Amino acid sequence: MLIRNFVDFKKFASQNSQLKRCVIRVDFNLPSDVVDLSRVYAVKDTILAVIELGLDVVLISHYKRPIPEDVVNEKFSLKNVVNDVSEALGRVVYFEKTSIFDLSPESITSPITLMENLRFYEGETKNDAEFGKRLSEFGDVYINDAFSVSHRSHASVCAITEYLPSFAGISMQREIEELSKVTSNISRPFMAIVGGSKVSSKIEVLKQISQTADYLVIAGAMANTFLTAQGYNLKNSMIESEQIQTAAEILEKSRAQILLPVDFLAAVNIRENGKNYQLTDIPDGFSCFDIGNTSISRVTQIIEKSRTLLWNGALGAFEFSNFNTSSKVITKCIVEHVKASELVSIVGGGETVASIGEYKNDMTFVSTAGGAFLEFVAGYELPGIKALCDCWVKQQPLN
Ligand code: 3PG
Repeated sequence: MLIRNFVDFKKFASQNSQLKRCVIRVDFNLPSDVVDLSRVYAVKDTILAVIELGLDVVLISHYKRPIPEDVVNEKFSLKNVVNDVSEALGRVVYFEKTSIFDLSPESITSPITLMENLRFYEGETKNDAEFGKRLSEFGDVYINDAFSVSHRSHASVCAITEYLPSFAGISMQREIEELSKVTSNISRPFMAIVGGSKVSSKIEVLKQISQTADYLVIAGAMANTFLTAQGYNLKNSMIESEQIQTAAEILEKSRAQILLPVDFLAAVNIRENGKNYQLTDIPDGFSCFDIGNTSISRVTQIIEKSRTLLWNGALGAFEFSNFNTSSKVITKCIVEHVKASELVSIVGGGETVASIGEYKNDMTFVSTAGGAFLEFVAGYELPGIKALCDCWVKQQPLN
């Protein structure tokens, strides 16, 4: 893929000593329920390297999903994250509240400035050219280091690349390189674990992976819908009735060997301790909250013989300590094989990352992205990446 990376950026900066300021698209859409600064640490190398090269930095990001009228609502302000960002970067980050239409680019004097939430502006989500142009006026060069928003055709991701020499940041490049390990030149056997509650949110990934993987483990509540498609009765468990037909089609057309749970930890209520039941023996009134012991062993046996593993989606109700056994056992098994250099493990999605807890740093790669991760591994061309590739063509040569 032709994308100008950070090495190209450094070369460009060294050849263009007149550069003063770099606009960097980051994703500081941080969760508000837990402290998780992964997305800040992910862009730290890029930001510090740009500063090291003698350029000031203007950081642009969205935060949650406000509409422009929400500008008065403080819960959507990026001011909420600026202290955490400063601390994680180990640098003072100045927060600029003034609208980009009222602010003169020349008035910015801080080495690192974080602008207010981009989604307070109409033009952002419309990928408006004028808005992209206005954003470009805050720097002489642009870096996109927000892979997790590259599936959005938004002005700060796409339109802005029409107006500034544009490059991929270190984190963006790493995401593309690591996630490409599950889309091309895959080291086999390749297994995928897809979990979570809804088939509907992962149809494209399931369709794609069922064609490219050697083994596809389907777990979490979505497995109930697949098992229902096979004629099983999951009693009170969560099922997406409108996806039963889709599930049946995926099962029928899959090239991968699909593994569905054969037993479950089930209970009447999620606060009770579950008991292990075979798929055909779940009592009336019970719901399945985690996969059972036999199912866990079947998954670990596949992990043992796989070379590449993709994991997205929770296996069970891991937030409840009475239903987190499968997440713990399977995570430990993956880590053991990664440490022995026998397995490459690519993990993505906020819920999945939360379920692996302290083992996050023991995986080969943990993506910062949710939606963008799913679209990339499903084989889609992401608009933000396309924009960076296109500008290579448009803006060559650089000096
Ligand atoms: C994410 O959290 O996945 C990204 O920040 C994108 O956010 P969005 O789904 O609101 O565009």
